[in-house]
Amino acid sequence: MVSSVPGRRGVTRPSSEVLTLLLSLCAAIAIVGCDKRDVREWQPSDHDQPPGQQAGQVAPRPASTGEQGNQELVEIAWQRNCATCHGQRGRGDGPQGPMVRAPDLTRAEWQSRVGDAEIVEVIRKGRNRMPPFANLPDQVITGLVGRIRANRSKD
Ligand code: HEC
Repeated sequence: MVSSVPGRRGVTRPSSEVLTLLLSLCAAIAIVGCDKRDVREWQPSDHDQPPGQQAGQVAPRPASTGEQGNQELVEIAWQRNCATCHGQRGRGDGPQGPMVRAPDLTRAEWQSRVGDAEIVEVIRKGRNRMPPFANLPDQVITGLVGRIRANRSKD
């Protein structure tokens, strides 16, 4: 039998460019996600943004690596997953905050008696009207805890 395949060079892959883009994006996220096992405790000073970048503005650059990269992922995660209820600083004043009665996470009194592990658990498993966020990477959750701690009110 003669092979009826005339040659393979005719194979067209119109979406290959899109695929390559997606793959490199995934790779970038994987790098950011994997090489941060030794994340140190989040410091309030880490939250200081370069001039020109205002609080609440997210610069989605997942391709950057290391501390800075995780910091950005944490900020993106907060804006996407938490701010709708808890608001920018965690006061519970997001658009959906009053409707679900999102608690004020900045309260010094609450912050003093809650442990980091407990906060992690609420984020992962959810509670009542707070949905679970089981899929967030560990270091992003750790960063979210740091972000909440950094917004503790003064009193
Ligand atoms: C749909 C609205 C909603 C979203 C989105 C949401 N939360 Fe909540 N959150 C709540 C509500 C309501 C509670 C109070 C739950 C309860 O104890 O009844 C809560 C409780 C909490 C608590 C515990 C507060 C306490 O007093 O013990 C933490 C910590 C928290 N949320 C963090 C987060 C973080 C971090 C995110 C994003 C990853 C997030 N929440 C997303 C509504 C939300």
